[in-house]
Formats: sequence, structure tokens, C-alpha cells
Amino acid sequence: MYLDHAATTPLSAPALAALTSELSRSGNPSSLHGSGRRARAVVEQSRETLAAAAGASPSEVIFTSGGTEADNLAVKGLYWSRRAADPRRNRILVSSIEHAAVQDTVEWLEQHEGAEAVWLPVDERGLLRLDVLEAELEAAPETVALISVMWANNEVGSLQPIPAITALASRFGVPVHSDAVQAFASVPVDFAGSGLAAMSVSGHKIGGPVGVGALLLGRSVALVPVQHGGGQERSVRSGTLDTASIAAFAAAAQDAVAHLDQEGPRLSWLRDQVIEAVRRTVPDAVLRGPDPATDPTARLPGNAHFTFPGCEGDSLLFLLDMAGVESSTGSACTAGVPRPSHVLLAMGLTEEQARGAQRFSLGHTSTQQDVEKLEAVLGSVHERARLAGMAGHASRIETAGTRHRNAAPAQPADRAAASAPTATTRTDTRPTDTTRTDTTGTGSEGTAAHTVRTGAGT
Ligand SMILES: Cc1ncc(COP(=O)(O)O)c(C=O)c1O
Repeated sequence: MYLDHAATTPLSAPALAALTSELSRSGNPSSLHGSGRRARAVVEQSRETLAAAAGASPSEVIFTSGGTEADNLAVKGLYWSRRAADPRRNRILVSSIEHAAVQDTVEWLEQHEGAEAVWLPVDERGLLRLDVLEAELEAAPETVALISVMWANNEVGSLQPIPAITALASRFGVPVHSDAVQAFASVPVDFAGSGLAAMSVSGHKIGGPVGVGALLLGRSVALVPVQHGGGQERSVRSGTLDTASIAAFAAAAQDAVAHLDQEGPRLSWLRDQVIEAVRRTVPDAVLRGPDPATDPTARLPGNAHFTFPGCEGDSLLFLLDMAGVESSTGSACTAGVPRPSHVLLAMGLTEEQARGAQRFSLGHTSTQQDVEKLEAVLGSVHERARLAGMAGHASRIETAGTRHRNAAPAQPADRAAASAPTATTRTDTRPTDTTRTDTTGTGSEGTAAHTVRTGAGT
């Protein structure tokens, strides 16, 4: 039973039909002969379809290989072009709960391109502190290259106040990028009405294929390209366009947005069933992110995220998986040591509190039977995870050898500061680029020499 739609969701029927039909054809959309012109027509039709689904105009759609590439293009491209226009602009105001595709990009710009990251705090629900953003803008607007705040958080499902953010930014003439990978086609997203300069979306989160996405980019927004070549997409993105994936992505977007009015309330209802089922089964589990009972519009319809005191998130994940329920911790695991989620830490949780995190995410194939199955297995799974957590804790504190082996990574003071209600200019408990050799998430076990991040960033 699949409760991990935020990681990736199955292809929708229209996407599958578009994909299979296009895969049996050939033609490079940049070629001038008949096959090329046919492929080009499919791409341009898909561009129109996607643009309509996202509230953009077709010329604002730049197809990419996915959300990660769109984020890189937006953040690096905006930073470089804004800084080239005025060298004082080196600050990037960015939320402290971003997906790695934005967070690592900003850190890379700090390390290699003279950027200064200002990590904006969130409140205990995972919502951006607008007052801090305003103060940072007012302090030195001429130094701000861009703002990047995700539309919906992939771990706790918090929906950020994008219109308020863009309204603030426009007072200072600062462009805003938003990673809308989790929000698009889950909640109403209107690029034109949002006031954003750039917005990232991804195919496989909405029923399209993996490996395709788009950056929505305002017509007057200048970007420096990240990769160079044929300049197929508005001269800012190079690479032969993947006609089949683009057609399927557009079909998925059209289908998902057309059904949003029914699917949104259906998933919200199912999500509330999950929340009730978890609370019934494990009364001390704590819902993280906005509570739909009090903040009905501040949470993604398909997201329920809990921390389970005394448990390790990985234990819960593996035991649930063995019981036939697929879920996610949402946080990274490095060299076999579970690392607390930077999102939960930014929301003010301690490392201990952040440990037993589990995300259940719903999508178009989810049904009430999924919730019933979760409720049926969660009690015994939780009991075993709690015993394993206590055993792990005991072995940590009982012998010097196990204490050394099991020691959680030290938390730099910088990271703790990220949860304080002020912006912070440095934050990092995650592995550095030099120690991170595998980010594929294909396993949870790592050796000291082979550092692995699992379950992260989905
Ligand atoms: C919020 C967010 N941004 C970006 C990405 C990356 O998207 P993609 O897998 O298309 O590269 C993901 C998914 O992993 C995500 O959840």
C-alpha cells in the first residue's frame, strides 16, 4: 500500500496514453523536416496545455529535466543576472525549510560565487516569518539578489503565503522564485496572479513521468543559463526536448488541474482520516505542520506528517514497509546515522523530538482502504519501533564503545540558530559535498567512506 505520493505518484491514465503514443514516434522538435515539425507541434501544444494549467502564458514555460533543474536554473540564473546588473546584490533571502534542490544550490552559490545566504525562519507550523523577511528587505534592499520560498513544503505540507511574499518583494523590486513542485496540481496555483518571477514544477509529482519539469519564467525576467548548448528553450535552457515526456507531463497537468475541485476535498478528507487514525492508534504521536482543524487552508491536502516519541523514523519506515505500508521519514540519513530533518529543526523541534518522523502522503490512487490498512498495522509497528528505539537509546548510553559508535552528529550552533525567530546567514548540519558520495537514496546503510543520504528531498 503506497502512502508516499509526495516522493513520486503513479502515472495518470492521460499521461500514460500520451507517453506511449509519443514514444512510438520519432522526430527532434528542432528539426525542420516533417518529423521534426510534427514533434515541434506536440511540444508547442503541450506548452500551451501546461501554461493553461499553471496560469501562465505559453512563452513563460521553459521545459527542463525536472524540479531540481528548474530550481537550479532559477536560483543560479537569477543570482547571476541580478548580480551582473548590480554587483552589490549578493544576498539570497531563502526559507530555512527548502528542498535540497534549492538549499544546496544556495549553499553552492555561497561557496563558489560570493553569495550570502540569509536563511529565513519559519514558525512552529512551518510557515514563513513574514516579519523577518520584511526586516531583511528593509535593512538593505539594494543588496538582495532574489528571494526563494517554496510554495508547499515537501515534509510537513505547509503552504507558504506566496502572495504576501511577492507583495513585500515588489515594494523593493526584488524578484521571487518559488519551488512549487509539491503545490502544483495539489492546490490552486496561478503563476500570473502569484506575482512570482519564477516558479518550478515537476512532472512525476503530478502523475506525469520522472525526468521532466518546467520553470515558469516571467517574460521580462532575465536569467543567466546554467547549461550551454543549442539554447532550445528561450536561449536559457539547452538540450534536445523530450517530446514524449513533455506531452505526458502536460496531459498529467491538465488532468490533475481539471479534477482539483473534487480531488482536493477528497484527499483532504482522506488526510484527516489518516490523522485521526494515527492519533487513535498512537495517542502520543504529534502532528507536525499546520493542523487542518485550526488552519484548514495552510496544509497540502495529501500530507500527514507525525513525530512518534521514542521511535526512530527509519525503524518506523522499515517496519511499516515490512507490514505492507510504504511511507517516508522525509529526513536524511548519513553513514547509517539518522539525521534530524532540517525542516523540523527550523520549526523549533529538538533533535530528539525530530527523530521519529514519518510522512504519509496521499495521491490520485489513494483510497479509504489505504487508511484502514495503515490503522490496522500501525499499533504493532509502533510498539516494535518504540522498543527498538529504546534499545538503541540504552546501547548508546550504556557503553563507551556504543556511545561512540551511535553518537548523533554534533549540532553546530549555526543550525540551532536557524530555529530562532531571526534570519541566519549560515546553517548546516548536512554532509558537505566532499563527504557526500551518493544522494540516490538507494539504501540506508552507509560506511564511513560511502556516505549516503536516504529518504531525503522527496
Ligand atoms: C519541493 C521539491 N522540490 C524539488 C524536488 C525535485 O524535483 P525532481 O524530482 O523533479 O527533480 C522535489 C522532489 O523530490 C520536491 O519535493
